[in-house]
Amino acid sequence: MSDSAMEGEFDDVASWTADAVKQLGPEHAIPAGCRGSASPAALAWLAEACELRAGTRLLDLGAGVGGPAAWAHRRYAVQPILIDPMPGATSASARLFGLPVVTADGLAIPLQSGSVDAAWALGVLCTVTDKVALLKELRRVIAPGGSLGLLVLVALAESLDPMPEGNSFPRQVELDAVLDEAGFDVREQTAEPDETPLSWTERADRVEELVRSAHGQDRVYREAQEQSRRIGVLLESGQVATRLVHAVGRRP
Ligand SMILES: C[S@@+](CC[C@H](N)C(=O)[O-])C[C@H]1O[C@@H](n2cnc3c(N)ncnc32)[C@H](O)[C@@H]1O
Repeated sequence: MSDSAMEGEFDDVASWTADAVKQLGPEHAIPAGCRGSASPAALAWLAEACELRAGTRLLDLGAGVGGPAAWAHRRYAVQPILIDPMPGATSASARLFGLPVVTADGLAIPLQSGSVDAAWALGVLCTVTDKVALLKELRRVIAPGGSLGLLVLVALAESLDPMPEGNSFPRQVELDAVLDEAGFDVREQTAEPDETPLSWTERADRVEELVRSAHGQDRVYREAQEQSRRIGVLLESGQVATRLVHAVGRRP
């Protein structure tokens, strides 16, 4: 992804989203803060697969605006730590949810080895070129036997049209291969379960509408919208599809 498109989608729009949620009310924060296509059903699947429970130290890598980590904190009383390289995203998640958050690249996670019980990376792998390096870093920081939960868009078509800037969607065989190379055994994979409830999408849509009315003429906003439109076309036309993955690192 070009720097400007990356900054637009994950930096500036993240700050605008936090501004809009502040105006609309806290019940909008989690739906608007899930920017990697995770529905409540997908989050519940990942939480149960990873056996989250009260006190689980959960790293959310590429946490974005923080909706998924905040959801896990509310529903499962996990102790989340959020990491994202975009300062706009980390300041938005800190403002919205007040959870521990660090601005850092997933290729050099500033945590000690084995220091978290589980990790999520939702909608992140498709934005990273060196997927094996990112997964190896995740494996390093997850305690032995701990779970990795992923939401990944996999490519089903040979060539994708339109292609969102900077994304690299793995094919299913490539996803399986990079997980294996990084030392993870896949326990289970599924397509995204069930539909998103209307009350959730309505709250996310209200935030989106407020951001559009405030920033709709901004170049950065229009670039981010174009990115989302392209991903929407790829999903609706069946060129890419969602995979939820539960994997566990092999013991050395
Ligand atoms: C599609 S968003 C998903 C955000 C969040 N996980 C969610 O589901 O709402 C992808 C996120 O990955 C982050 N990201 C991109 N490259 C990264 C990297 N090298 N390390 C960690 N995060 C990265 C982006 O800043 C962005 O917040």
